[in-house]
Amino acid sequence: MHRRLIAPGALAAASLLLAIPASAASYLPGAPGIGDPYYPYYGNGGYDVSHYDLRLTYQPRTDELEGTATLLATTTQDLSRFDLDFLLDVSEVRVNGAKAAFSASAPHELEITPAAPLPKGTSITVVVRYSGVPSTKSAYGFNTWHRTPDGAIAADEPESAWWWFPSNDHPLDKATYDVSVAVPDGTQVISNGTLQSTTSQLGWTRWNWRSNKPQATYLSTLAIGKFDITTGKSANGIPVVNAYSKDLGDEAGAARASVERTGEIADWLTGYFGPYPFSSVGGYVPNTTTGYALETQTRVYYSPRQFANGSNTSVVVHELAHQWYGDSVSLKGWKDIWINEGFARYAQWLWSEHEGEGTTQQLADYVYASHPADDPFWTVKPGDPGPDNQFDTAVYDRGALAVQALRNEIGDRAFFAVLKGWPQQHAYGNASVADFRAYAEKVSGKRLAALFDTWLFQPSKPAAPSARTATL
Ligand code: ARG
Ligand code: ZN
Repeated sequence: MHRRLIAPGALAAASLLLAIPASAASYLPGAPGIGDPYYPYYGNGGYDVSHYDLRLTYQPRTDELEGTATLLATTTQDLSRFDLDFLLDVSEVRVNGAKAAFSASAPHELEITPAAPLPKGTSITVVVRYSGVPSTKSAYGFNTWHRTPDGAIAADEPESAWWWFPSNDHPLDKATYDVSVAVPDGTQVISNGTLQSTTSQLGWTRWNWRSNKPQATYLSTLAIGKFDITTGKSANGIPVVNAYSKDLGDEAGAARASVERTGEIADWLTGYFGPYPFSSVGGYVPNTTTGYALETQTRVYYSPRQFANGSNTSVVVHELAHQWYGDSVSLKGWKDIWINEGFARYAQWLWSEHEGEGTTQQLADYVYASHPADDPFWTVKPGDPGPDNQFDTAVYDRGALAVQALRNEIGDRAFFAVLKGWPQQHAYGNASVADFRAYAEKVSGKRLAALFDTWLFQPSKPAAPSARTATL
C-alpha cells in the first residue's frame, strides 16, 4: 500500500530506530487491521483502548471540528509503532507525554511511531490534536458524516468514528467515553450516556457527556443542532433522555409519540432480556433525510423518515433490543451480525404479539411464505452474509425466522431462558454465532448444529417451515 508521509518527525523516528538495541528486535508494528476478514483495515493490532476522552469544538456554519482526543490504552505486544483509524488532519501526537512521529496512510490509518518502543503490557496515554472539515473527507469513496441544516450527525454502521475521533475502530475493542463538545450558544450537543454538565463562556456552550460502560466505536454518536431535550425516568427507574430537532416538520408528532415511549419499552424488554445494561436510555431525532435508525449506545439515532407514516413503536423496540443484543453483548466479527439483527427483529415480533398485531409464529409463517424458493432472499446466509449483505433484509427476516425455528426446536422454557441468559452471560463483552449456539445447546441440552446450519448457513430455502412443536 502506498504510504503518504506527512510528518517531518518521521525522519527523526527513522534515525531513532537505528539506536534501538538488538534486544528490541522483537518490537514490531501493530497490524493495520484487527483481523476481521470482512474489513481488513478496521481496527488495529497491538493495543487495547480502555477510555476515550474527546474535547472538541464544532462550528456548524463551516463544519469545522477541532480538538484533542486522549486515549488510555494498554499495549498487547512489544510495539514499535501502531495505527489509529482516522481521517481528519492531525497536528500533534504525544505518547506518554513525549512527541511521537505520525503519518496518514490509506485507507484511513494514522500511523504513530512513539519516541521509544513500548513493551507489551505498558499503559499508554495517547494525545492526538486535530482539526478538519469532516464532510470533505472520505475513505473507500464514502463519507458517513451527515450534515444537517443546523449541525451534523455521526451515526453509522459499521463505520462513523473516522470522521470525528481517532480510534481502534472495531467492536472487539470497547471502551468508556467522555465526550465534551463546545458549540455556539443556542445549539445543542447530543451524545451517549449521561449529560454531566454544560458550561458557557465567550458565546460558546460546552456539553459534557459520559458513557461509563464499555461501548463499541460504531455505537458512539455525536449530534449537533437545535434540539428540544426531554428528560424523565422509566417506571423501573431508568433515566431517560430524548432529543428532537426543533425543525422536524410533519413528522414531529409521530416521532415524539413513538420515542417518548422509550422508558416503557425498555422496561418491557427487561421482561425478556433481563436488567437494562446501561445507566441511561433514550433516542434522538435530528432533521436529516438519511433513512435508517441505529442502536447508538444508550441514545438511539432515528431518522424522521421512520415516522413518515405515523407513529412507529416497532423501530423503538428494535433499537432498544440492540442495547442488549449488539451493544452490551457485541459481535466478535462483523460476520456475527445475525446476533444483532436477528434478535432485534425478533423483539419486534414479540412486540407485535404484545400489541395484538400478529404472533411471532404468524409473522414467521408470513415471512417464510412470502419468499418463494427461487427468491434471492434465500441465498443470503444470515450466519455469514458477507460485507455487502450485512444489512440485507434476509439478515433481519430470515434471521428472525431462525430465532423462531430455535424456539420451536428447544421449547419455550429453554428458549426464554436463553433469551434472558445470553445478555448476562456475555454482558459488556463480545461473542460470536458459534458462542451463541454453544450457549443454546448448554441451556437446552440439545444438539443444534443441524438447525443452525439449515437456518443460518445454507444459501437456500429450508425445506420445511419452522415446526410448530413448541411445548412449555
Ligand atoms: N443496525 C441498524 C439497524 O438495524 C442498521 C444500520 C444500517 N446501516 C446503514 N448505514 N444503513 O437498526
Ligand atoms: Zn438493527
